[in-house]
Amino acid sequence: MIQTEQSTTSSLLECAKKSVLFTANRPPIVMERGEGMYMWDTDGNRYLDFVGGWAVASLGHSPSALQKALTSQAATLVHASPGYYNRPMIEFAELLTSVSGMDKAFFASSGAEANESAIKLARKHGTVNLNGAYEIITLTNSFHGRSLATMSATGKTVWKDLFSPKVDGFKHVPINDLDACFAAVTNQTCAIMIELVQGEGGVHSVDESYLYGIRKICDMYGIMLIFDEIQTGLGRTGKLFACEHYGIQPDVMTLGKGIGAGFPLSAMLAKSKFDLFEPGDQGGTYTGAPLAMAVGYAVLTELLERNLAANAKTQGNYLISKLKELTSELSISHIRGKGLLLAFDTPAGTATELAAICQREGLLINSLNSSTIRLVPPLIVSQQDIDTMLGILRKAFKQLSTC
Ligand SMILES: Cc1ncc(COP(=O)(O)O)c(C=O)c1O
Repeated sequence: MIQTEQSTTSSLLECAKKSVLFTANRPPIVMERGEGMYMWDTDGNRYLDFVGGWAVASLGHSPSALQKALTSQAATLVHASPGYYNRPMIEFAELLTSVSGMDKAFFASSGAEANESAIKLARKHGTVNLNGAYEIITLTNSFHGRSLATMSATGKTVWKDLFSPKVDGFKHVPINDLDACFAAVTNQTCAIMIELVQGEGGVHSVDESYLYGIRKICDMYGIMLIFDEIQTGLGRTGKLFACEHYGIQPDVMTLGKGIGAGFPLSAMLAKSKFDLFEPGDQGGTYTGAPLAMAVGYAVLTELLERNLAANAKTQGNYLISKLKELTSELSISHIRGKGLLLAFDTPAGTATELAAICQREGLLINSLNSSTIRLVPPLIVSQQDIDTMLGILRKAFKQLSTC
């Protein structure tokens, strides 16, 4: 059946069941429109969005900066081929490297691709500079993507045997355990790759002294230090990049999610001394494509001009303080995170039901597991949005059957 604008939600859902490959349990609603902090479904229901497309909608839904960049670039040059430079590619690389303190940029479309690129660059470093070292140390509970190599890098225990055999050469060590990391280093280690706040893994931050120790290990042995800032980057944690909280720079940084504000875009940034790829080593049909580059430039400019990292800090602190006031009323605990990458624990087994009730009440929140809620709203969120969100959350807690 061909769907029309008049198709009912139930007929759309029937069609989805028939023709969309099953990969996720989705609620029986169909999203149709977005503006600012809100999305609307095909029945006209409005949702206050504290999921932000999984920490993607940095500027809110359908932001005008993105619309303008898309229409203007689409009328100029959509695609040039990765075999040529194009103007927005150069301008975006220049802006991104200047604000990040990194030197060189490679562009892709998803976080997994940016991390694949970093993994390949780490192995190239091993080949060129470390006598063929190829092992990469990552953290238990980390998340780096869904391609085979990035799934192998990921430290989720439930993924351990998924799609075996895994890509060889990844070792996982517990977060904030410097001795364990040190013990895992051998003459085969070419890189250490970490998220500074584990987003999918439950919103756990690395400690300052730990990160300092990791940087020292890397410097001592010539190991490449990679920060996966795909979720933490571009203002999410209250600084433009999470590494600014620690005053420690990586050799390679990966970015995704908020960098395109909803348009598929990611980047791998590297220091000059790791500009090691030769022609043929890395690329991709859509790398540095003009349309994506124009979006990235417009999104980053808007983030900087509106100082949305500072808003993330202010509103994040406000949200944390309000949640703390509600700990005993709602039986929530372990309120944690930085800026607008926040989480709290709910009574055992209640998080999924809580998120479902909130959705019925017009609020989108994300249950990371059966007892953890993650909050990653657009960086434009206001105090008033937070008050509205807390009102719905309190109402939802009262409806929990398991409490
Ligand atoms: C830290 C981190 N790295 C990598 C990824 C993968 O990004 P993508 O889903 O765009 O491939 C994610 C996605 O959640 C992430 O949070």
